[in-house]
Amino acid sequence: MTAEGAERAARAFRDAFGAEADGVWTAPGRVNLIGEHTDYNEGFVLPFAIDLAARVAFRARPDGAIRLLSTSGGDGVAELAVSGLDRGSAAGWSVYPAGVVWAFQERGIEVPGFDLVLDSDVPLGAGLSSSHAIECAVATALNEVTGAGLDAEQLVLATQRAENAFVGAPTGIMDQSASLRGRSGHAVFLDCRDQHAELVPFDAAGAGLVTLVVDTRVAHSHADGGYASRRAACELGAEVLGVKALRDVSVEDLEEARALMDAVTFRRVRHVVTEDQRVLDTVAALRASGPAAIAGFLDASHASMRDDFEISCPELDCAVEASRAAGAIGARMTGGGFGGSAIALVPSDDEARVRDAITEAFAERGFRAPRLFTVAPADGARRLA
Ligand code: GLA
Repeated sequence: MTAEGAERAARAFRDAFGAEADGVWTAPGRVNLIGEHTDYNEGFVLPFAIDLAARVAFRARPDGAIRLLSTSGGDGVAELAVSGLDRGSAAGWSVYPAGVVWAFQERGIEVPGFDLVLDSDVPLGAGLSSSHAIECAVATALNEVTGAGLDAEQLVLATQRAENAFVGAPTGIMDQSASLRGRSGHAVFLDCRDQHAELVPFDAAGAGLVTLVVDTRVAHSHADGGYASRRAACELGAEVLGVKALRDVSVEDLEEARALMDAVTFRRVRHVVTEDQRVLDTVAALRASGPAAIAGFLDASHASMRDDFEISCPELDCAVEASRAAGAIGARMTGGGFGGSAIALVPSDDEARVRDAITEAFAERGFRAPRLFTVAPADGARRLA
């Protein structure tokens, strides 16, 4: 898949721009095993990079022009320039590479013009960080061709800056951290306060399990109000409690916190505080006993997002309930919520049955047919060719 994808990107580049690319860089999408809406609260997350990735064939050009083309077609070649980039100057997926160029420039890095072809198999809008995959592939390419030498921590911050200030989504650092730091066979346990990262083995296959993704095909956008309003509630909660971030609140503090704020803010706070603890518990269980031992934490995480943080939707709940009823040992929505995907840990022998049950449940409820596929932890961003 990887070699094929690199060749496809290189060939499309030749066809579109009549020259060889300087190189092909790749960055994967992610699923999050657990730790949702904890990243911007300076807490813990446990995502892994998946075996679906964006690839960019890239060739620098001397005139400061940027030409962008995607193999998934549609928009044709988008034309921009490295000078004078601002939010309004890019549309569609161009906003992601443009945002990264802008963030590099903001750091004082001189970025040359370039031609770029994007070839991605991360489904768009499925909550698997297709946009971060593009940003991280472009950032990794630019980091090399400009000789900027940014380390993983700086690349994470640069792509977050692109996303927050250029794309306009007030997101945290989880997605790009998974995409940049991921490793085959491992999940990335990240402390979002200081970016301390540890790789934790996640060998679902070895435990007789698969990680099934249920893409509900319900569109979501983190530039819409839902994500920002949750973030604002968390900030309010931290302010009321007199802490820097909700990371500084423990499960034991919750009863006292309840009396200090309105009921909705309290439930938002309770999700984040208990979710941080679930990440720590999940990492401990994974290390001690392997993937099967984390199932209960996935279920509890979903319930917390559904009831306390209120970011699930009927399709996500249906995916979780149907997969659990048909034999999944644990399931939860993954990512920012309001649509996107759920993940389920499923015994390999039950995979077909679980898939059928989910498809049937969606049909019965009159939902659009979901997209089902399995994922496994893969390597993070790198040069392919
Ligand atoms: C989106 C954001 C992340 C994170 C998750 C929720 O994926 O991009 O930064 O906040 O939502 O955990």
